This record gives sequence, structure tokens and C-alpha cells, in this order.
Amino acid sequence: MKAIVYQQFGTTNVLQTVEEPKPVMKADQVLVKVKAFSINPMDWKIRKGEMKLMSGSKFPKHTGTDFAGIVEEIGSSVIGIKKGDEVFGVVKNMMKEAVSAEYVAVTDSLVWKKPANISFAQAASIPVVGTAAVTALEKMGNIGPQTNILVNGATGGFGMFLLQLLKQHGANITAVTSNQGTAFAKKWGAYSVKDYKKENVLSQKATYDIVIDLSGKIGYKTAKQIMKPKALFLNPTPKPIDIPISLLGNLFRGKKHIVILSSPSTKQTDVLLSAVKNGLEIEVNKVFPFAGFKEAYDYAEQGGYIGKVVVEIN
Ligand SMILES: NC(=O)c1ccc[n+]([C@@H]2O[C@H](COP(=O)([O-])OP(=O)(O)OC[C@H]3O[C@@H](n4cnc5c(N)ncnc54)[C@H](OP(=O)(O)O)[C@@H]3O)[C@@H](O)[C@H]2O)c1
Repeated sequence: MKAIVYQQFGTTNVLQTVEEPKPVMKADQVLVKVKAFSINPMDWKIRKGEMKLMSGSKFPKHTGTDFAGIVEEIGSSVIGIKKGDEVFGVVKNMMKEAVSAEYVAVTDSLVWKKPANISFAQAASIPVVGTAAVTALEKMGNIGPQTNILVNGATGGFGMFLLQLLKQHGANITAVTSNQGTAFAKKWGAYSVKDYKKENVLSQKATYDIVIDLSGKIGYKTAKQIMKPKALFLNPTPKPIDIPISLLGNLFRGKKHIVILSSPSTKQTDVLLSAVKNGLEIEVNKVFPFAGFKEAYDYAEQGGYIGKVVVEIN
């Protein structure tokens, strides 16, 4: 089968296609013929060696974490999934496994039936950012119309799911995005939208109960100035050291620093599937063919798109 691999850390120039054997499946796995995989910032952070501590430095590495496709074979202990099912899913160990190939073998507990009313590209866009958005929602606790939430970086993949889930709770959302994201942010639930290229969100008063920084550019220390005394700062881009430090620091301070580390599960995926059934939109900004994988990664890494970027395999 064809696969995209890299043999060293670096820019998209290290990505190449190779021929390799189909993966060998374990008893609790399914072999999926991949139709689409989505691109996540984590892909290039790993490829550039920024997450070496967790990803290790063993090569070759594949790339991509969530996918959609058609079940080709099932392991001997798999129940509830059959050959020919249209599914979507995610690898178990996002730091060490990846999906950029014509076939992928994955644990059955991380594979779900694709709703008939969404495309393979849309389904492949759900697991990583969708479950991260559900995790963020869980960390926010009780929210409602009185909760003022700032979503900084609101119209990428994560923001797209988060805004629409927050809307279901009636939260008062301020979205920060670029000009082209304004209409999407409003449609997805933002009450107020700010263009980060024109306005400095940090020049406001302390008005927010929750600040979530999806751009990774604010940071807890800076965000404190726009947070109410008992507000939460949600951080989905933590450095390893932030995890113990935030836990310890939260024992002594009013404004909490909460690290988000999502791990896709069926419980969270069910929340997303129910939301999709009720009209949650999955915007796929651009779909690239398998042969255009390098352009796909260049495009995604440059930013400036709404929703998700996907690679399709035919
Ligand atoms: N911890 C976890 O479990 C977890 C899970 C999933 C994702 N993440 C992380 O969460 C982050 C968001 O993920 P994503 O997939 O949504 O990424 P994304 O699609 O790249 O979205 C990031 C958004 O931030 C915006 N942005 C860039 N610079 C900004 C600035 N200065 N101020 C405000 N907004 C700015 C971008 O807008 P433009 O493109 O218009 O510049 C883009 O809409 C990534 O760092 C990702 O690695 C963490």
C-alpha cells in the first residue's frame, strides 16, 4: 500500500510517499481502507520535533491521527462492526501511531459508524478536535446565559466544534478570529466577534468567567487581566511543565489554570454524534487528494482557513 512517511524531523519537505506492507491486525482491531484523514496542528508539531519527549525519535513515522473509511477486515474478538461498514475513528496512541496510508489497523473501541448524512472528509474531522471540544466543555462545569466566555482562535477545527456545543448551553460567547471567520463564528453561536488582526482583546476589562486560548498565543499570565476573580483559563496547548505547575498553583489562587488533554472516547463521540444529528455543522475548508499531501500540509500550517483541512484517498 501507499503511505506518507518521514525519516527525520523537519518541514513538509521531509514528507514522502513509500510502498509498504498493509498493517497486521490484532484480535481487537479492525483494518480500515482509509478514504480521508484530517490534518491537525499536532501533526506538524510532532513532525517538527516539538513533541519529541512524547513522540520519541524513532523513524520512519507516519502522520495524521483521525480518519474515515471502510472496514476491510475485523479481528477475531471484534463485535458490533462488520466488513463494509463506513466508519471513522482515531489511533489509540496519538504520539506514536498515525494514519497516513491506504490502510490502517485500529482498536475497535476507537472506531465508530459514520452517520450517513456526512461525508468521509467531515467524519475524519470529528475525533481529535471534536472530543477536545467536549473535554473543554466538561472542564467548564455549569455554564449558561450568564457565563461570559472568550474563545480565542474560534474558527479552526477545535473552535468550530466548541462554539456550536457552547451555543447549546446558551453561553454568552465572544469569539476571536480573523475577518474571514466572523460570519462563521456568529453562525456557530458567538454573540460578539473580534478580529485579532484589528483589535487587542487584552485591552478589555476583567469581564470573562472563562477564557479558552485555542491560538496558543495568550497564555495564563496575560489572560488573567481579562478574567473575573474566580474565572477559568483553559489551556489546550500546555508545555509538559504546565501540568504539575497548574495543579499546584490552583490550590492557592482564585483564577484557575486548567490544562486540556483530551483522549477520544465513545462517550464523548456520542455527544458529538448527537449534536451532528441535531444540526452541528462540520465545515471542511479544503480537501486535497492523496498525491497533494505536501500542499495540504503547507496550506494547513499557513493557517487562515475555517474549520478543517482534509486529505482524501481514492
Ligand atoms: N490538548 C488537546 O487535547 C488538544 C486537542 C486538539 C487540539 N489541540 C490544540 O488546540 C489548538 C487549536 O486546534 P485547532 O485544530 O482548532 O487549530 P487551528 O485549526 O489551527 O485553529 C487555530 C485558530 O487560531 C487562530 N489564530 C491564530 N493566531 C491568532 C491570534 N493571534 N489570536 C487569535 N486567534 C488566532 C487561527 O486563525 P487564522 O488561521 O485565521 O490565523 C485559527 O482559527 C492547536 O494548538 C491544537 O494543537 C489540543
